[in-house]
Amino acid sequence: MNRVYIKTYGCQMNERDSEAVAALLRARGYRIVQDEAACDVLLLNTCSVRDAAEQKAIGKAASVAQQRKRNPRFILGILGCMAQNRGAALLDTLPDVDLIVGTQKFHQVPDYLDNLRAAQAAGAPLASSIVDIAEEAGSQNKIKDHILPQDDFGRAGTPLPAAAASGVAALPMVTAFVSIQQGCNMDCAFCIVPKTRGDERSRPMDEIVRECEELADRGVREVTLLGQIVTSYGRRDYAHTDGITPFVQLLERVNAIPGIKRIRFTSPHPRGFKEDLIQAYGRLEKLCEYVHLPLQSGSDRILKAMNRPYSRDRYRQIVDDLRRVRPDMYFSTDIIVGFPGETEEDFAQTRELFEACNYDMAYIFKYSIRTGTPAATMAAQASDEVKEARNQVLLALLAANSDRRNATLLGTTQEVLVEGPDKKGLGYMGRTRGNRIVHFAANERLIGELVPVRIERASTAVLYGQLALAGVAH
Ligand code: SAH
Ligand code: F3S
Repeated sequence: MNRVYIKTYGCQMNERDSEAVAALLRARGYRIVQDEAACDVLLLNTCSVRDAAEQKAIGKAASVAQQRKRNPRFILGILGCMAQNRGAALLDTLPDVDLIVGTQKFHQVPDYLDNLRAAQAAGAPLASSIVDIAEEAGSQNKIKDHILPQDDFGRAGTPLPAAAASGVAALPMVTAFVSIQQGCNMDCAFCIVPKTRGDERSRPMDEIVRECEELADRGVREVTLLGQIVTSYGRRDYAHTDGITPFVQLLERVNAIPGIKRIRFTSPHPRGFKEDLIQAYGRLEKLCEYVHLPLQSGSDRILKAMNRPYSRDRYRQIVDDLRRVRPDMYFSTDIIVGFPGETEEDFAQTRELFEACNYDMAYIFKYSIRTGTPAATMAAQASDEVKEARNQVLLALLAANSDRRNATLLGTTQEVLVEGPDKKGLGYMGRTRGNRIVHFAANERLIGELVPVRIERASTAVLYGQLALAGVAH
């Protein structure tokens, strides 16, 4: 009866929010299922960052509402960024949606579902939908519950490998997302996030550290600290100590937790890469040498129009500084092509910097108009053809970079954190510190261990190798 399926769109923050909602629902007696066809409550946790993401969720909601029309017990909810962005107006196009819950109200979902169920039990067809997109002070502190692997809800909502379902002991959770901060005050001209996620709010450092310790006790070895602008963590709540920002203070404390072996974070802002963070890569041994450093554009003119407070030279300086501290640093980035007014010359500058930074990974986006943002009404919007062409240029450069990096890894032995069986169940998978996915033969006992893997083969996206452990049967 109360079988909930949560479908998540968008970024890691959304995945983390979905996981926290799942944990709360489970504690309330709901069952979280992996099979959409088997659910009677479907929750779509949505993304608004580009129009395509919103259209996908709207299309899904419309088709589900259509299919489920004949089931009066079925509940359909829209959560997260699109709920926040569009609110009750969603009901104009999707009148059959029962629940609309914004980004500061995730923790209310169990209560709202209980209310909807109670109304149904009373025999009344659901007369009206519940809409809650209010702001709530302290809501950033509510995203703290994690779900155990045996709860049948893996990270990112993917089904756990067959072992869990077949009654074999549940596999341990090896990696976890930890929300440290919500919202963003940067007002980049293209970005809807300040509207959907609200003002910057940080969680208390002690609580975050405690959460990481608890995760470590449960077998987690790698944490990814999450926020819309993590480098601004705690800037209003904590003082700098000896020139060390609150964000780096937090990294130091997580680094000191014995069970945690690796630390990652996303997303930072280039302006947050001051000397203390650069130096942290030299002295915090658990901080992985992989930095996601959103560039957006390599043209100073466009950066200014985007309201991004750095120049291409400054950005390049950060990359060079980080490579000086960690010569083996991996970089990834976000780029927007076709921002209003972007000329061939501007794009050439982006392309040039993109090549110079030698990214290992990049998320390249075609500019998407977001109503209500300053860029939406700027003159000289680029055509779809121009955006697509520029997108393809950068994608080709990225593939070449990735192949080049992989070629340097062939024949080397990399430290890999074993996460679990791969999706196809053919072997095991894990990641290098540089966030490269590696497939190799292993056994269940190695899950959660850092193992040496000799890299033998590579596709553009994935490495293949062999355990380089003497005497380990696999
Ligand atoms: N700091 C946030 C950024 C969220 S948006 C985070 O990572 O959570 C993620 C990326 O989407 C941005 O870095 C930007 O490259 C891209 N993006 C944001 N708004 C966009 C728009 N209107 N069109 C295209 N891409 C956009
Ligand atoms: Fe968006 Fe810029 Fe903040 S990309 S999330 S407004 S740093």
